[in-house]
Parts: sequence; C-alpha cells; structure tokens
Amino acid sequence: MGTPELGILNRREFARRAASLGIAVGLPVPGFASPSSKKKPLPPSAAPMPSIGGADSLRAHAEGVGLHFGFAVVPELLDMEGARTQSTNDPYTRAVIAQADILVAENAMKWSSLRPTSTTFDFTQADKLFDFAALCGQLVRGHNLCWHEQLPSWFAKTATRENAQALLTQHIQIVAGRYAGRVQSWDAVNEAVHIPDGRADGLRKSPWLDLIGPEYVEMAFATAALADPQAKLTYNDYDIELDTPEQTAKRGQVLMLVRRLHARGVPIGAVGIQSHLQATGPAPGAGLIGFVRELAGMGIEVYVTEMDVNTHLLPGASEAQDAAVAEVYRNYLALVLPEPNVKAVLTWGISDAHTWLNESSQPWAVRADGSRQRPLPLDEGYQPKAAFYAIRTAFDAARQPVAIGDITKSPSPDGKATADPFAPFAVPGSPSVEPKPR
Ligand code: GLA
Repeated sequence: MGTPELGILNRREFARRAASLGIAVGLPVPGFASPSSKKKPLPPSAAPMPSIGGADSLRAHAEGVGLHFGFAVVPELLDMEGARTQSTNDPYTRAVIAQADILVAENAMKWSSLRPTSTTFDFTQADKLFDFAALCGQLVRGHNLCWHEQLPSWFAKTATRENAQALLTQHIQIVAGRYAGRVQSWDAVNEAVHIPDGRADGLRKSPWLDLIGPEYVEMAFATAALADPQAKLTYNDYDIELDTPEQTAKRGQVLMLVRRLHARGVPIGAVGIQSHLQATGPAPGAGLIGFVRELAGMGIEVYVTEMDVNTHLLPGASEAQDAAVAEVYRNYLALVLPEPNVKAVLTWGISDAHTWLNESSQPWAVRADGSRQRPLPLDEGYQPKAAFYAIRTAFDAARQPVAIGDITKSPSPDGKATADPFAPFAVPGSPSVEPKPR
C-alpha cells in the first residue's frame, strides 16, 4: 500500500485520491457505509449513509468556488503513518484528510507549546502538522506569533522592558523563518484590541504593550514580513462580528488599527474574524459587511478563522441544538461569503468530539442541562450534522449575490430590520475615509 510518490502529488490529485481512500482500502470513511456494514443487510427502512467524502466534502465544495475551508487540528491526534500509507482507520485523521484544504494548529504553534524554556524551542508537533499538510496537499495557517494568552510559565519571570523586544523579534524570526514559504497566512498579532482597558488607541494592556509599548504590533508584523515574505500577515480578533454597541466599538478600533498599519506601509495582508458565535444570537449584520468592505478598499483579505457555535444558553435536546447551530452557520456564511475579499473559512475543530467548548468548565461553555455542546460540522461519531450541510450549501452559493431581502431578515440588535444592510456606515470614532458603496 505504500505510495512513496504521494509527497509530490499536487493538491487536487491528492484530494482525488483521498476521496477514494475509504473505498480503495476498504476502510470506513465518515459518511460512507463501511465494507463490513455491506455484509450485514440493512433494515429496509434504513436510508443509505449520505456521502460526505471526495466531491461531496466541504473541501471540494469550497474549492469549487475558489474558497479555502479547513479547521483547527491537534497534531498529536493525527495518524501520520496511516495517512502516508493511505490505510488509516482513525476517524479524526480521515476527517482531516477528507474535509480540510487548510489546517491551523489549535494550540501547537502558540508560545506555550513552542517554548518549553526561554532558550529552547520544541517544534515536534508543529513540524508534524506541516508534514501532514504537505502529504495531504493542504495549506497551513500559522497561529500565532504574538498574543497575550498562552504564554509559557517562564515568560512572566523572564521578560523585562530591556529584553522583551528581543524576545518577541527573535521568536518571530525563528518560528516564521523555520516555516517560511510553507505558510498561507500567519496570525502575526492575535487579539490586541480590548476596549475595556480604556486606552484611546483601543489596545489591550497586554504584557507586550506593558513591556514594549504600542509599537509592538508593528514590530511583530515587520519582523514576520522579513522572516516569511510569502505569508499573508494577519491581524486576528474576536467579538467583532455583531452590531451590538460593544462589538461595534471594538470593530471600529480594529479597523483603526488596521488603517494605521496600512497607512504606515506595514505589510498587513488579511484580517481574521474569529467568529465564535452564539446559537442564541444576536445575528451579525450590516456592520460586519461594512467592515469587510472597508478592508477590501485597502486590498486586505478576510478570513473566518475560528468559527463555532456555542449553545450554552440554548435549552433543548441535541436536535434543537443541531438545528440552531446549522442556522447560525447558514446565515453567517450567506452574509459574508458574497464579499469577494472573504477567502477562507476555518472552523475551530471539525468534530464535537474535540472542541474547546467541551473542554472548558467556564460559565460561557457549560450547558445548564450538563449535556455536551455540538458546535461543529461533524458529531462525536464523525457523522455529518445539519451544520455540515448548511456549510456545504453556503459554499455552493458563496459567490452568488445575495438578495437584500434575505439579509434584512436577520434581526438587528434593536430588533428592527435594516433598510439596506449594504449601505455605507460610519464606524464610531474612525478616521473619515468614506466607505465605498458596493
Ligand atoms: C482564541 C484563540 C485561539 C483559541 C481560542 C479558544 O480564539 O485565538 O487560539 O485559544 O481562543 O480555543
């Protein structure tokens, strides 16, 4: 079964072969009936399992309209050898092969994972991710080079005003340099804006800001650009999706940050909108589209980087959760995908078996009835849920212009329908560059 030539297959050819994987080696692929199940006669009422592999995968449907689809992965869980020999029986690995065209490490490329000590690096899991992606013809997003969270425990004791700049730039040179030419986009800076900290520039009072000053943002981008000139350098943030007063204000500050960087010639190529959404709403709307178009006006791409749908406040059984989650995916993708600068959609995991929302005991993750959340396209048994089909259908319609009437159905924060959700809108406090009407 060895296929030594796999490493040099192009992406489409691999996708084609991956599509036939389950059938070729006689192993169960999510959504395919397994050969052993063929031996057992199905009860007359049982519907055939829907196909979700190959041409029916999220990956294929996204590629069909020029989009990238992928998700956060845990490299430790990947069966590398099985993937190499096209014989893996592991449902997680098979889902990653079949469904993703772009991978991002859930945790493996954060400082806490890469930096066991202040003077050493551990690239074991990150290297594995890149090797896997190369084998499977997948792109990789780098996440992330500079963030205030998941810093190693030595950081607080070691980092000072004197050495912080060197720590940051050397980290970026080494990490981005190691994978140079192999990264589609790098989250150069993650979550730098936090309005409650009360600064006029909206920046978060993070260790990086305290130790270096606000110029740390520009420093991270500039260093990354030198280390990997090919990667699109991305600013990534959360809670910028909705038209609530808080998220509108934060989105405005993110836009101003991007404008400042852009105006100063800092090579920012993309903005990541994390898109951790709530099943109970409110729904995103016109403000998000205005933001995406402002970015388009600067030639900046947009990626949905960490989408999932949190049901901690939604009562009801799994069927109710699944329907609500699918509805959020459907509406959100219908809203953003018609924008031509939206180039990629990544979910924060692929199966409910592995999601941060089921690993956290925080109040924002735990359901009142104690049941597990179901925020992702596949269920815990790697079978497709309504969300899977909602995403796939949204990809097919992605580049079709959306009728205004469809979008105005989304409730606005004040409950009133917006007359024209595409009308240019002013970002509170932002510099007076007129948004371009579509
Ligand atoms: C943020 C980060 C991600 C991840 C999620 C939770 O969105 O950007 O890396 O930590 O929180 O898993």
